[in-house]
Amino acid sequence: MVKTLLKSVKQYKKVSILTPLVMIGEAVMEIVIPFLMKFLIDEIYVMERSGEFSMYIVWYGLAMLACAAFALFCGIMGGRLASKASAGFAANLRYDMYDNIQTYSFANIDNFSTASLITRITTDVSNVQLAFQMCIRMLVRAPILFIMATIMSFVISPTIGGIFIAAALVLGIIVAAIMVKVAKPFRIMFKKYDNLNRVVQEDLTAIRVVKSYVREEHEMDKMRSATQEVYNYSVKAEKLLNYLTPVVQCVIYVAMILLLLVGGNMLIGESSVVEGNLVFGGLSTGDLTSLLQYMTQILTAVMLVAMCLQYISLSKGSMDRIAEVLEEKTTLPKTSTPVFEVKDGSIDFDGVFMSYRQKSDVNVLSNIDLHIKPGETLGIIGATGSGKSSLVSLIPRLYDVSAGCVKVGGVDVKQYDLDTLRSKVAMVLQKNVLFSGSISENLRWGDENATQEEIEEACRQACADEFIKQLPGGYDYDLGQGGVNVSGGQKQRLCIARALLRKPKIIIFDDSTSAVDTKTDAMIRQSLRTHAPEVTKIIIAQRVNSVEDADRIVVLDQGRIAGIGTHEELLAGNDIYREVYLSQMKGKADEEDGGEEDGTRN
Ligand SMILES: Nc1ncnc2c1ncn2[C@@H]1O[C@H](COP(=O)(O)OP(=O)(O)OP(=O)(O)O)[C@@H](O)[C@H]1O
Ligand SMILES: [Mg+2]
Repeated sequence: MVKTLLKSVKQYKKVSILTPLVMIGEAVMEIVIPFLMKFLIDEIYVMERSGEFSMYIVWYGLAMLACAAFALFCGIMGGRLASKASAGFAANLRYDMYDNIQTYSFANIDNFSTASLITRITTDVSNVQLAFQMCIRMLVRAPILFIMATIMSFVISPTIGGIFIAAALVLGIIVAAIMVKVAKPFRIMFKKYDNLNRVVQEDLTAIRVVKSYVREEHEMDKMRSATQEVYNYSVKAEKLLNYLTPVVQCVIYVAMILLLLVGGNMLIGESSVVEGNLVFGGLSTGDLTSLLQYMTQILTAVMLVAMCLQYISLSKGSMDRIAEVLEEKTTLPKTSTPVFEVKDGSIDFDGVFMSYRQKSDVNVLSNIDLHIKPGETLGIIGATGSGKSSLVSLIPRLYDVSAGCVKVGGVDVKQYDLDTLRSKVAMVLQKNVLFSGSISENLRWGDENATQEEIEEACRQACADEFIKQLPGGYDYDLGQGGVNVSGGQKQRLCIARALLRKPKIIIFDDSTSAVDTKTDAMIRQSLRTHAPEVTKIIIAQRVNSVEDADRIVVLDQGRIAGIGTHEELLAGNDIYREVYLSQMKGKADEEDGGEEDGTRN
């Protein structure tokens, strides 16, 4: 998992390696400075006693200044490099995730919710970015600082070195205990963030439905409880984390008292002059000063390592979730010798079975045998949930069959280069989506090089040109996000025009004229018949009159073909079709009667 993530470091590999190296430079200087200070203090002491000025003081002072300047440089550089490396790593991660998401099939997309994908790309990557930055800055620097400061303390005084190790152990245990306790509420808090994102995303995308059903109060409650949960767990986690600084301070002070007690005693103990320095009980004043600094460094290093490990463990959940997105393999495997040409618009379903879940025995389509000729118009009718959308989704290979085979132009859809296949099979989806931008820009999704004439022609065929002309700005009219600025029926016609612009060999309308009035619906079908006679047309509809003039009509019932034939044939020989037809005719007659009655009364 870590390996998968680290692949995204890419061009930031150099900076990522350089950062810890620079940080080591800073750590070394931090060790050298107290050591120089020890000599400086001892030298001052000797100077005071002898009354003679020593040039060593100047040299030690200058050396300390140089070390401090170098440490400052390393610190600043390390910080800069770490930010660059971690921000670059995060950007690459986001890009790589997005790149892989683009290869997902519909089945892959079904595995992740949109909200969860958004959280993974945003919050989760930010968590990993922070952990990565902490690691490259601290995870090498802190242990090195710890080891070197301990060695130096032992060199100066083994007894005091021992005290430091004991203090570090105590601190390590306390900090580890806090970290372990804090990990659970933090982990839950991240999960609650997920929930919050889901609520926000769902509510905002469906804000119109929320308003029209007057569900604002209910949605506010949902939002309130989601925010409250995040609040509760962050307070819980932070409360524990707040103990950290005082505890570290406390251990530092206790260790300092011990150091001063033991060190002080050693100072007051019998004194001797070693190499010109006055040393009390084996410890000079300079020694004691530098030991104080080493002690702080050792204990801070323990805390930093613990914090780094904490960041890593906290971001583990995020890492897993990012790795899942990166490692998800498309369920539509590519063939090694793809076909790049769709010969014609013929479609063959040979013994097709389909299920949405892998290895599931619940089939949404069973034993479908259906052969459609190029240029044929095929209507599909059936109750909701009967498998109409599922059936046509197999043609542009949005999903794969579980058994059997779907052929387009005589070739198994699995043998095609996916882009080639999809460019020749245009599908007007049941849930249509337009994007922000002008009408022309949206239509060019069908063909980015389409001329204005071609766009207008496609709109004429889709009976969309008239309403477009009446809009302010015509084809430059801005659709707004998701195409909110046009009506449902207008949106459907724009989507049909967009599909026509692809100049497909097969065009599928999945309930695409449900929001268009019956007259315009008939006009669109008529214009397609005249302008695109060679294109195979599949029309899924709820209304019988949308398919009654088709060459053949398929009746689907619970994923099986329950009948196939012309309108007249089915009316004569298929019970389901007849029932649907009669119920719709009756509904229409009632409407007309109602209308007349109203008329007479007025
Ligand atoms: N993405 C999906 N994941 C799992 N099951 C699905 C998915 N899409 C559809 N189904 C299931 O497959 C069955 C057939 O659905 P399908 O969308 O093909 O019906 P339909 O005939 O197009 O219905 P409608 O007229 O309502 O559009 C249904 O039982 C549905 O619950
Ligand atoms: Mg459907």
